[in-house]
Amino acid sequence: MKSSIKRIQQLTQQFHSLLLSIIFIALTGLSANVLAAGGGVELKHMTVNMSDKGALQRGAKLFTDYCLSCHSAKYVRFNRVAEDLDLTEKQVMENLNHSDAKFGSTMTTTMTKEYAKKSFGALPPDLSLVARSRGVDWLYTYLTGFYSDPAKTTGFNNIAFKDVGMPNVLWELQGTQEATFNEHGMVEHLKLTKEGKLSEAEFDREVRSIVSFLSYIGEPRQAERKVLGAWVLVFLAVLFIFAYNLKKEYWKDVPH
Ligand code: HEC
Repeated sequence: MKSSIKRIQQLTQQFHSLLLSIIFIALTGLSANVLAAGGGVELKHMTVNMSDKGALQRGAKLFTDYCLSCHSAKYVRFNRVAEDLDLTEKQVMENLNHSDAKFGSTMTTTMTKEYAKKSFGALPPDLSLVARSRGVDWLYTYLTGFYSDPAKTTGFNNIAFKDVGMPNVLWELQGTQEATFNEHGMVEHLKLTKEGKLSEAEFDREVRSIVSFLSYIGEPRQAERKVLGAWVLVFLAVLFIFAYNLKKEYWKDVPH
């Protein structure tokens, strides 16, 4: 009798540590995104809602209008975007495809490497996976972080990417920001000094849409994966109820 009580105690302890490990793994998985961020500046935070198809569609339009001329997204096909974002072939070909690329083609840019290098001093990298390498917070900070800097050939610098070669392509929408610096020469604060076409809140919304779209192309199956994740949690919850009742059953006759 004594030994079987011991055994049950051992089993229960093992069960507890198993549960703790599962919870730990789930939590570390969730925080991986947060840890992916980097750089010296304090990043602005945003969350992506993969089920907000409207935002993703707006992001796709802004991306193809404002970014695709320089940056490619070579792992992304127009027809896949159509399917995932609930757009028709006609909508995609009329609104998103500004070149003679086919519906089944990937999002390439027509700009040559030589031209890009000469004009910007740096190559505009492919953006298919940038949301994974930089993280959404960095992208959000970067795209809202251009400020006027007369010392630069483009006239702008960036809080997340010092001396960036990319021109401030969204300046017409955002307006112009000026920076104030602290005693170490670090940017302390950005202030809008010249208004753009959009209000600050509207511009913020547009940038979030672009970042959401970049996050989607970085991992087109993200939406599915999140649904799967939810089912795993439901499964774990059900398992927990069973396991807990089983534990109660084991302990029922054991004085403790
Ligand atoms: C006129 C050309 C041009 C356009 C248009 C443009 N970019 Fe860029 N972009 C560049 C260049 C050049 C670089 C490389 C800068 C460097 O290395 O200094 C760059 C760098 C970047 C980076 C940093 C990538 C990395 O990980 O280092 C991101 C992110 C980015 N661009 C996003 C965008 C987005 C989003 C848009 C549209 C809103 C856009 N760009 C429009 C030229 C452009």
